[in-house]
Amino acid sequence: MTFTIENELPGSGILTVRLGNRVTLSCGDAYAIRPTLGWMDADVMDPPYLFRAEGGGQYRKARQGGMDQIVDEQLHKGFDHAILNPLLCGAAVVFCHNDQLAKLLPYLDGSFERLALCMWRKKNPQPLANKHYRPDSEFYVHCWSRGYHPQGTLADKARTVDAYSVRGKAKFGHPTVKPDAVMDKIVRNVAGSTICDPFMGTGSTGVAAVKAGKAFVGIEQNPTHFETACHRIAAALEGTAQ
Ligand SMILES: C[S@@+](CC[C@H](N)C(=O)[O-])C[C@H]1O[C@@H](n2cnc3c(N)ncnc32)[C@H](O)[C@@H]1O
Repeated sequence: MTFTIENELPGSGILTVRLGNRVTLSCGDAYAIRPTLGWMDADVMDPPYLFRAEGGGQYRKARQGGMDQIVDEQLHKGFDHAILNPLLCGAAVVFCHNDQLAKLLPYLDGSFERLALCMWRKKNPQPLANKHYRPDSEFYVHCWSRGYHPQGTLADKARTVDAYSVRGKAKFGHPTVKPDAVMDKIVRNVAGSTICDPFMGTGSTGVAAVKAGKAFVGIEQNPTHFETACHRIAAALEGTAQ
């Protein structure tokens, strides 16, 4: 797969890569770039969660630095809800930590017409609770405006999906990669033919979008993860998803 590299906004520091004619990937700040992209049928995002990243004790030490990488990359500081904008997308899917629900749900309820609270259940949860419940499931909210309601078969419309957390080499050096089974299900559920992921990390949403034949626009600010996403999505386009 040949990458076409463009620097669309001279002086902006935003690098844009086109893969074929249906994938555009930008390395830069989502809050600056997303409003310039215009309408997308669905924004599917796994933004930085907001949670307390301390604790974990002996288990944390044995975990080869996953939580430390989350802290180093500031992936525990939350995100600006304003990026969830019903004027720019028909529907949105947003992953979040349990502790974000109390603020995120009222925000979405005031923005989109309807919403559903869904979750993916981990077949291999971390063996700790850290003065909370076990991290054996993760929430995501699917919210939509009129005409962009959930799609797929009755089986696809389950609110839960079971999957193994990504571990080892399949994480591509990223601490929070989402499993293919989860992203494939979500892509089956969103209406329309265009998907944007403004916090794409290693490109898991893009891989699922490409496999489903949808156009994809991704944004990632970390150059290392951006490069990983380019390679993963290019491989998916070539029918050899890693
Ligand atoms: C939770 S991770 C997403 C992981 C992704 N779902 C995957 O499977 O690889 C969130 C990503 O958003 C990126 N990020 C955080 N703030 C950003 C911003 N303002 N603009 C663009 N990317 C951002 C981080 O570098 C991180 O890779």
